[in-house]
Amino acid sequence: MKLKRLLAVSVLLASQPLLAKDHKVEIEFDADKTGPLIHKDIYGQFAEHLGRGIYEGVWVGEDSDIPNTRGFRNDVLNALRDIKVPLVRWPGGCFADEYHWREGIGPRDERPVKVNTHWGGVEEPNTFGTHEFFEFVELLGADAYVNGNLGSGSVQEMAEWMEYMTGEKGSTLAEERRKNGREEPFEIAYFGVGNEAWGCGGNMRPEYYADLYRQYSTFLKAPSGKMPKLVASGGHSEDTSWTDVLSKNIEQKIDGISYHYYTLPNSDWDNKGRAIQFSEDEWFNTMARTYKIDDYISANLAKLEENDPDGDIKFYVDEWGTWYDPEPERDPGFLYQQNTLRDAVVAAVNFNIFHDHAERVTMTNIAQMVNVLQAMILTDKEKMVLTPTYHTYGMYKVFQNATSIPFEIDSPKYQKGDKSVPAVTASVARGENGKLYLALVNMDPENGAEVSLDIDGVKAERAVGQILTAEAMDARNTFDNPEALEPVAFASDLDELEIPAKSVVVVELQ
Ligand code: AHR
Repeated sequence: MKLKRLLAVSVLLASQPLLAKDHKVEIEFDADKTGPLIHKDIYGQFAEHLGRGIYEGVWVGEDSDIPNTRGFRNDVLNALRDIKVPLVRWPGGCFADEYHWREGIGPRDERPVKVNTHWGGVEEPNTFGTHEFFEFVELLGADAYVNGNLGSGSVQEMAEWMEYMTGEKGSTLAEERRKNGREEPFEIAYFGVGNEAWGCGGNMRPEYYADLYRQYSTFLKAPSGKMPKLVASGGHSEDTSWTDVLSKNIEQKIDGISYHYYTLPNSDWDNKGRAIQFSEDEWFNTMARTYKIDDYISANLAKLEENDPDGDIKFYVDEWGTWYDPEPERDPGFLYQQNTLRDAVVAAVNFNIFHDHAERVTMTNIAQMVNVLQAMILTDKEKMVLTPTYHTYGMYKVFQNATSIPFEIDSPKYQKGDKSVPAVTASVARGENGKLYLALVNMDPENGAEVSLDIDGVKAERAVGQILTAEAMDARNTFDNPEALEPVAFASDLDELEIPAKSVVVVELQ
């Protein structure tokens, strides 16, 4: 099977358009120089009570015919373990600001059924609550990012949730947690104080939210050494005012400010563009709009440099990814979309940008993990498919906790009219295992490029790793053909290194 696939890819690579003469990428670095750590949490995921993101996607219940471990589907658990998911954010999103944690604890059959007013108006059974979330991340070997309800909750409710999760001795709430089956406190890595306060989280102004954050965070307490990193809910897209106001007005109990950015091919919420069968113009627009996040992050980080020159406040991109028109015949409130080679390339472009800003960007969460927006995994009852985005995460896992290496890159442009992006972007890092890694992504769907490396500090002759590419821009995996697009082995002498059109390559330099 693997050999067949290898042959198929050799044929595919041979059928790629010939390299245009002037398509040369030059990369220069000194392998002895080091940049900031690429925090593993840059590879975080987001799982909201939305569509089939949790129910069916993760949780099927102990009595399900779908093979499961205490209610969590085994195929999804195994797939997520394989890409080393480091962190999961839950329960929202917009859902977080309507979530009341008490409704999701205690005997499952006694929990209240509510309406999920944000997403599809469907029944929310509260079967998946605090205990189930922590059991899920523990089964994955991941850390927990819990998002609190500031929009429609209260200071007391948020403070009590924190105590319920982290309390040790002498706490009535910790005792209640024990009665519900959990002796040891839960470990929370990050706690979000509200979500999108500028919109679904309460339509606030940043000044008002900053005051509320100061108030709420005052009462968030945990035993010594157990306090999670606290996240202030920030702005989105080109806006920098939230980062500016929050970093000026919140002086205590803040570890980071969050930021959201979605790629809409047509930049229009009423006509976002299709997930499949799109034109090259839409491919280009998707790349150009994705690449914009580099400017937007830089503009926000400039505000942080002004207001927090010591670098104490981190910048967390805790929602990002592609957002397309809903699939015909699917509930539009479920945000289910197909995922193609284009999404895999988008993910790699984002990773390379996050690595470039790794000093302050220490955590991000793609939206979302299963069955929602730019998902890793799609399910249809007992069937599961791994998306091209999943494979980019798998290829890039060597960058988790790697030490970045500063580099210079000179790339041809991928251009349409007066707009352009660099065709090729890259990352260079020394992995936790001491090996030297290079990632390359080519956004140009027509032209491959020669890559010339000028490396100081180490002698490397071969590039050995994996490539993800296909002939069609919208190549994808389906329930009928789940292995249509997968990474395959890639090896090249360094003096003959080439990156094909529309591809992602991650190699060890040997
Ligand atoms: O990820 C879907 C939604 O997008 C989230 O609930 C919200 O925070 C954002 O607007």
